[in-house]
Amino acid sequence: MSSFDQPIDRRNSDSIKWSKYAGRDVLPLWVADMDFAAPPAVIETLHRRIEHGVFGYGGPWPSLTESVLTHLESEYDWRIEAEWIVWLPGLVSGLNIACRAVDGAVLTATPIYPPFLSAPHFSGRQLNRAELACTDDGWRFDQAALQAALTPDSELFLLCHPHNPVGRCWSRDELLELAALAEANDLIVCSDEIHCGLILDADKRHIPFASLSPAAAKRSITLMAPSKTFNIPGLGCAFAVIPDAKLRHRFEHAMHGIVPHVNVLGLAACEAAYRDSGDWHRELIAYLRANRDLVIATVNREKGAKMKSVEATYLAWIDVRELGLDNPAAHFEAHGLGLSDGADFGAPGWLRLNFGCPRSTLEEALKRFSTACRAA
Ligand SMILES: Cc1ncc(COP(=O)(O)O)c(C=O)c1O
Repeated sequence: MSSFDQPIDRRNSDSIKWSKYAGRDVLPLWVADMDFAAPPAVIETLHRRIEHGVFGYGGPWPSLTESVLTHLESEYDWRIEAEWIVWLPGLVSGLNIACRAVDGAVLTATPIYPPFLSAPHFSGRQLNRAELACTDDGWRFDQAALQAALTPDSELFLLCHPHNPVGRCWSRDELLELAALAEANDLIVCSDEIHCGLILDADKRHIPFASLSPAAAKRSITLMAPSKTFNIPGLGCAFAVIPDAKLRHRFEHAMHGIVPHVNVLGLAACEAAYRDSGDWHRELIAYLRANRDLVIATVNREKGAKMKSVEATYLAWIDVRELGLDNPAAHFEAHGLGLSDGADFGAPGWLRLNFGCPRSTLEEALKRFSTACRAA
């Protein structure tokens, strides 16, 4: 039995995932955190930090920075300088800051994690969208759609890599095409790589957009965090990597007065996650892979539901348009399954299912999924 098999009761806790359906028999497979305990090294580090007893304002220290540099080099072959790092309390803050740091319009590819759609609006920037193409071979960028969505004042491309919700780990060739588009149109690329530690396909590797070439690095803002991979999003610790000093200063300027110091527990957890949690991570990926296979087999067996493979993330993006439901999320909720509504991602008729949970929870959820499909 794997340690990931052990259900942990999150009902009546601070969990927003579980409290949404408090008092109802609805399994919550919506917001993107996992129902697993953090790696043992993270928990031990947090205990030690708590024992210290003093929780003043904190900032990074040398061995933490070193753990980030070493992690990025060993995992992604990406060498960065310590001064390129800007610590943040979260990635969503980073997306909003990136929008505020530019003057022009923002471009992104849909369906997409909802804050990509709201951040330009909150920042008073025009958002232009291009649909991803759903082909027989899976999800792809549609270069013609991207070109058509560009306007003369486009200045920022918000990239989700790996992509939430479609689960693509973009390849080098795909990234090079995006880099060429950015170069030709003088776009800054803000690459949200929060899911980069969750590559499920053994033959794929995450390639940071900024690692493609010095030219790509110069126009990049990379957002990363240990939060998704090591299941510590509630600890609020993330960072941007911005190699170009001018762009980094613009980004830091946009943060002034609205972005707080990073939580000291999050910083401590980050170091333990990146430096001492490799074995836990390897087991997690194997576990998620098996969960993914179960989800794909079940979903694609049901009439009216279908999905492409999930190369990365613990999120399944499911097309239920053929079920002909007015409100698919409400229908599945009524059958005891709480999923994310595709409409929030710019794609009504789709649902997102989070399979970062013990196998027993997933099996029950998938039973409910099948019942809901057949009742449609
Ligand atoms: C692509 C993406 N970016 C950002 C976030 C959230 O980041 P944070 O909690 O650090 O603001 C998520 C969470 O689901 C996500 O999927």
